[in-house]
Amino acid sequence: MIIGAAKEVLDGERRVALTPDSARQLQKLGYECAIESGAGEAANFSDKDYTEADVKVVADAKTLWETSDIVIKVRPPETSELELTHEGQTVISFFWPAQNGELLQQFADKKVNVLAMDMVPRISRAQKMDALSSMANIAGYRAVIEAGNNFGRFFTGQITAAGKVPPAKVLVIGAGVAGLAAIGASTSLGAITLAFDVRPEVAEQVESMGAEFVYLDFEEEQQDGAATGGYASVSSPEFREAQLAKFRELAPEVDIVITTALIPGRDAPELWTEDMVQSMKPGSVIVDLAAEKGGNCKLTKMDEKIVTENGITVIGYTDFPSRMATQSSTLYATNIRHMMTDLTPEKDGQINIDMEDDVIRGATATKDGEITFPPPKPKIAAIAAQKPKEKAPEMTPEERRAAEVAAFKDQTKKQVALLAGGGALLLLVGLVAPASFMQHFIVFVLACFVGFQVIWGVAHSLHTPLMAVTNAISSIVILGALLQIGSGSWLVILLAAVSVFMAGINIFGGFLVTRRMLAMFQKS
Ligand code: NAI
Repeated sequence: MIIGAAKEVLDGERRVALTPDSARQLQKLGYECAIESGAGEAANFSDKDYTEADVKVVADAKTLWETSDIVIKVRPPETSELELTHEGQTVISFFWPAQNGELLQQFADKKVNVLAMDMVPRISRAQKMDALSSMANIAGYRAVIEAGNNFGRFFTGQITAAGKVPPAKVLVIGAGVAGLAAIGASTSLGAITLAFDVRPEVAEQVESMGAEFVYLDFEEEQQDGAATGGYASVSSPEFREAQLAKFRELAPEVDIVITTALIPGRDAPELWTEDMVQSMKPGSVIVDLAAEKGGNCKLTKMDEKIVTENGITVIGYTDFPSRMATQSSTLYATNIRHMMTDLTPEKDGQINIDMEDDVIRGATATKDGEITFPPPKPKIAAIAAQKPKEKAPEMTPEERRAAEVAAFKDQTKKQVALLAGGGALLLLVGLVAPASFMQHFIVFVLACFVGFQVIWGVAHSLHTPLMAVTNAISSIVILGALLQIGSGSWLVILLAAVSVFMAGINIFGGFLVTRRMLAMFQKS
């Protein structure tokens, strides 16, 4: 079969669905590849690059659609392209079937199979084909670059001969794929980055990327991402009020706001209101990634950059991935190639749209003249469900006090028993052992106690460096053992040798672990 990549017809679209590299991989699946002349030009892939990868370059769209069994592209096909299709053909591209019902019907009528890249379910196995995530990742990164381009200051703080420069403060609203990419880009540029999301489970991811998660002083049933396929659901009006109050508080202090908040199938929630824009410092920048769905900021204008009267730049571009066409084409072409791998289990160059396969079923919007959208829910949840937290049974104040007293008595009993046991043991040892042993033994017991109390008080994050240093204390053990070598008793010499060996492991192991840990933080 022939897979043909069409040149995008939408004005300004620079991406392409096939790269020379992805073509080589598709050929390994048994397909022949073709491309419309000039389709890769804007993404820096020339016709010559394709010819060198054994891709047939065809002169125009008509020939490409006529000769290809499978047509791959980025943007949803336009009516002019529908006319070029033929029965039995398969089209793979973004399609947005929910918004393009009429076009979908026309494709079904022409018996053209449609696989919508935007319908690939968000399950682990499908991540390699998740073009929405690939594009959102680029959009998040590019949003920060675009913000920087319109922001008159450094991101990172600096102390220079000409004066001190404070770091920029960036707020990212919505920590999905685009939001996390924006957080990554912003923190790596050195800005103080804050992030908010309605899904509390992302707080850990946000913090692991060096940003600060903005918590609300609000009690609400946690949103379980697993129940909604990893997406958020609508929050209560009270929650929304608390959220807006927090944003109002933050507005005067943040320099850049990047909004990515979205609930699938709905208009983008309005989260950055006009009064928040007005309370921002002049020169601040808002990049609204949700512009296509109405925008998270009240003042966003789709595909435009506006500057408000108080000097705030509001960017509502919807073509961020296309602005990084080489990168986005490479990732998108790889997503398509993975999709083709799943569609070609026999590697025989023949497409097999297996409706039993969750991922393929999810993406298939029309098949053999039938509309197959919307698909049933995938059998596997997008992300693992959170374990419900076990709530402690409610207690009255009297019951709580009684429980505390009982716990205290129980603990005291255990401590008394432990002390009595220890005292009895010491007495026993004191009766049989020589006086010099008792002296050493008491020092040993005290050292254990003090050591335990000291180490226990150190924060977990400092344990590794602490252990590395305290391991050096093992050298005292070695000194002690060496002093015993001349004692004349073979048992003492043997014990001394064992102590030297054990302490040696401690010392060298401790430094080796520290070295490896430090290497992890060194840039190569
Ligand atoms: P996603 O679904 O992974 O992330 C959206 C995040 O917003 C989720 O984490 C969700 O919990 C959060 N959210 C929803 N409601 C919220 C609220 N009220 N407050 C705070 N957080 C809330 O989506 P993804 O893939 O990260 O895309 C984000 C946005 O970027 C979408 O609107 C998408 O259409 C847009 N996008 C824009 C592009 C452009 O060129 N402008 C290109 C690619 C994506």
